[in-house]
Amino acid sequence: MKNKSILILGISSFVGSNLAEFLKKDYKVFGTYFENRIEIPGVLTLPCDVLKNEQVQKCFQVIKPDITIYCVGFSNVFDCQKNPNRAQQLNANGLYFVAENCHKYNSLLIYISSAMVFSGTKDSYGEIDIPDFTTVLGQTKSAGEYFLETSFPDYLIFRSCPLYGRAVVFEKPNFFQELEKKEDQFCDDNLSCGFLDVNYLAMVISLAIENNLRNLLLQLSSSDIMSRFQFANRFAKIFNVDAGIFKKTHITLPQLLDTTTIKVQQLNFNLKTQNIQNYLNITLPTIEESLDFTFRRFNGRSF
Ligand SMILES: NC(=O)c1ccc[n+]([C@@H]2O[C@H](COP(=O)([O-])OP(=O)(O)OC[C@H]3O[C@@H](n4cnc5c(N)ncnc54)[C@H](OP(=O)(O)O)[C@@H]3O)[C@@H](O)[C@H]2O)c1
Repeated sequence: MKNKSILILGISSFVGSNLAEFLKKDYKVFGTYFENRIEIPGVLTLPCDVLKNEQVQKCFQVIKPDITIYCVGFSNVFDCQKNPNRAQQLNANGLYFVAENCHKYNSLLIYISSAMVFSGTKDSYGEIDIPDFTTVLGQTKSAGEYFLETSFPDYLIFRSCPLYGRAVVFEKPNFFQELEKKEDQFCDDNLSCGFLDVNYLAMVISLAIENNLRNLLLQLSSSDIMSRFQFANRFAKIFNVDAGIFKKTHITLPQLLDTTTIKVQQLNFNLKTQNIQNYLNITLPTIEESLDFTFRRFNGRSF
């Protein structure tokens, strides 16, 4: 019986829509969108601007969720640099009214953070390492984490590597959907990170709820890291695509401060994941294992 309710704020996001599809089997799922109204069978969706308290209040009054997942955000590192105010509002400030209402209705608040809270200049990072972000995205996600850890009594934070899969709102294709177009494209080769099918996040959230985890920040990543160019090559192998269409390029992350003194060619966003594996008694996959899972999930069909 579905006796717990989950409210996904930003259900129109890539992550939120995929969580809804996965979690609706076991929970009563509700969701909010901002500009992109979406319909997910079996899920009630309603509009809400998280920056307007009366709208947030109304959602909580109606739904009274047991669990709230904050999937609102401004996630592109270059867009965040161009519009730091919007990044701060959506990645951090939007949590204020949400947290207030979660407190009022005794709802667990789940926040999805990012490996970008780190600079990528060290070999690997654990949960206790102090964020040394160099980008507006990293700074504002770190602010969101800090707000919850210091001001809210009932939270879970998943600090995640990039997630991939298909978005429900097709006007905004993500990098995986770009690969699926099978067109010539340039992929970065100097920034390495983990990559996970978005359903791994959904599984981890489901297990964390079942195990009643509370007030923890847990890192989530594949067990290995690679560049987007290498990822595109693994994708080509598993999805039977000609790898020759993917060409190497080198991106430079936009910097928060002038860090011209730090000359690092290769950045590694390598998250240690021992804690989440121990808490949930799971083994996280390699990138290739994750892609195999995705291939089977999509019945071996590219979109
Ligand atoms: N994607 C990843 O690989 C990844 C990795 C780590 C962490 N995360 C985190 O997971 C969350 C979702 O990421 P995503 O990439 O799936 O996001 P996304 O597809 O870019 O979607 C952003 C969401 O924010 C909503 N939104 C924008 N302004 C809003 C407002 N004023 N009030 C309410 N909602 C508003 C959008 O609604 P409309 O579209 O309806 O306007 C949309 O649902 C973000 O917090 C992100 O930092 C993502």
